[in-house]
Amino acid sequence: MSRRLLVTGGAGFIGSNFVHHVLEHTDDHVTVLDKLTYAGNLMSLDGLPQDRFRFVRGDICDAALVDELFAGVDAVVHYAAESHNDNSLDDPRPFLDTNIVGTYTLLEAARRHHRRFHHISTDEVYGDLELDDPARFTETTPYSPSSPYSSTKAGSDLLVRAWVRSFGVPATISNCSNNYGPYQHVEKFIPRQITNILRGIRPKLYGTGENVRDWIHADDHSSAVLTILDTGRIGETYLIGADGEKSNKDVVELILTLMGQPADAYDHVTDRAGHDLRYAIDSTRLRTELGWQPRYADFEAGLAATIHWYRHHEPWWAPTKTGVEAFYASKGQ
Ligand code: NAD
Ligand code: DAU
Repeated sequence: MSRRLLVTGGAGFIGSNFVHHVLEHTDDHVTVLDKLTYAGNLMSLDGLPQDRFRFVRGDICDAALVDELFAGVDAVVHYAAESHNDNSLDDPRPFLDTNIVGTYTLLEAARRHHRRFHHISTDEVYGDLELDDPARFTETTPYSPSSPYSSTKAGSDLLVRAWVRSFGVPATISNCSNNYGPYQHVEKFIPRQITNILRGIRPKLYGTGENVRDWIHADDHSSAVLTILDTGRIGETYLIGADGEKSNKDVVELILTLMGQPADAYDHVTDRAGHDLRYAIDSTRLRTELGWQPRYADFEAGLAATIHWYRHHEPWWAPTKTGVEAFYASKGQ
């Protein structure tokens, strides 16, 4: 049956991948609500079927607009956020406004209209793990966020849980690991290094590069969210991951090799303050209870396809590249 979905942050990286995924794999109608901050890009929504898609530019903190949009949909998937750790170290305020107050504003509308609400969150709420720790994050790992970004995401998760328990809002939460794929802003690790190489700039590795991230293709994140929206238990949290642990050093070396460069042609730069060492997701609940499986099991193949995408979409990323590199250069990164 066709649903009417509201997707916040749908002009960003993961939100736009989700919108493409939904319109390709379901009969649902999608309204995107996005403020088009520096991270939003309308080109990421090109080519969608216009009879099932609508774009609204606006702020999730705008209660009147949010209320009007909730009245016309069946369910809401909430991606909108300030998402970059490095920016949160530079200026935390927008993270508090969008991630905390914005989520609160949406929850109040979900409560008034009793709408199905799915909240997109991150594995960073759990803090980090030692490199040699056999443990991975599960749904019962205690919250211990490290950065202004992850602490605001943790706060937003707790708001969702409280609105479920206190007001009966029919909500679910998912906490996903690091995504890669098309439409990711060049401030982020993988697109930054790919576009650096395309511009003749050496890739930049923070600190020693031993930090580990658990990579998942954005399309696998989308299929997991759709599965939770369809069959997830109300009030429940699901961790999303695809067993993709890799050190940053290994990822940079693989990107260089796939792009025909010497594997050691990168620079070590100033480390991130408070840099989380390792993330690792145990997604057993999602796989066993809801039957979800990732499709992109081969990281190298997914990375090669991502490199191909950036090679052929320079008009999408070029307008932001110079400013991003100037920001990093000012911090010795
Ligand atoms: P992004 O920065 O690429 O996109 C964020 C989008 O939200 C942009 O289009 C921006 O314009 C919009 N936005 C920001 N503030 C807004 C506001 N006040 N009102 C309306 N729109 C606003 O982020 P992303 O990487 O796509 O992340 C999306 C979500 O997924 C976030 O909630 C993030 O915490 C979560 N997440 C990201 C990852 C990852 O690897 N990138 C992993 C797990 C979870
Ligand atoms: O784990 C999920 C999180 O993944 C999401 O919640 C965040 O929104 C998303 O941005 C991402 O956070 P990270 O901080 O892990 O991603 P980022 O791409 O900024 O960095 C990935 C790793 O690469 C991290 O260890 C820092 C390092 N890094 C980053 C950049 C930009 C570098 O070594 N060099 C770089 O130039």
